[in-house]
Amino acid sequence: MVVFYSRKGHTRAYAEELAALRKDKTFELREKKERSGFLGLVGGCFQSITKKEAEVADLPDLRKVRELFICSPIWASGIAPAVRYFINHAELAGVTVNFLLTCAGIDKQDVYKKSAFDALSATGAKAGEAYVFACPMKSAPDTEIAGSHIKRVILGVD
Ligand SMILES: Cc1cc2nc3c(=O)[nH]c(=O)nc-3n(C[C@H](O)[C@H](O)[C@H](O)COP(=O)(O)O)c2cc1C
Repeated sequence: MVVFYSRKGHTRAYAEELAALRKDKTFELREKKERSGFLGLVGGCFQSITKKEAEVADLPDLRKVRELFICSPIWASGIAPAVRYFINHAELAGVTVNFLLTCAGIDKQDVYKKSAFDALSATGAKAGEAYVFACPMKSAPDTEIAGSHIKRVILGVD
């Protein structure tokens, strides 16, 4: 299963392409409380830095899932608060968890990967791989580019 949170569509494009290429299902995490405007974003950065969660409306049924991709945008160098909520509340024990992270620039990708794997530490999940892709905020989400990146970097095909 491919679980994702996306505010502006970049992470969604990667998640949907990844699921299509792997013939997998997607599940979108939706924040319960609407996040709008500048204050919503500042609040999101604060939540990310302080490792706070943002409650989501629904969680997926993971009873038959052994391997998972979690796709998150990077906010203030960490995973999005909705994704942290999912990690803290889903039953991940024994599940292999891979991350696909999108961000403005990949120069700090090791920090972003660490933030993601650190969030898993108390869950009993098995740490898989993490992949980081640059999606500058001013660019429109592009499924074709996402698909070609995933093929090359994750699936190892041209
Ligand atoms: C509140 C906020 C904080 C962000 N912080 C970072 C950051 O620390 N590092 C970075 O490279 N990109 C950062 N970004 C850029 C996003 O991670 C990037 O544009 C991402 O692809 C957006 O995904 P989405 O369209 O699925 O919401 C931030 C974006 C937002 C909205």
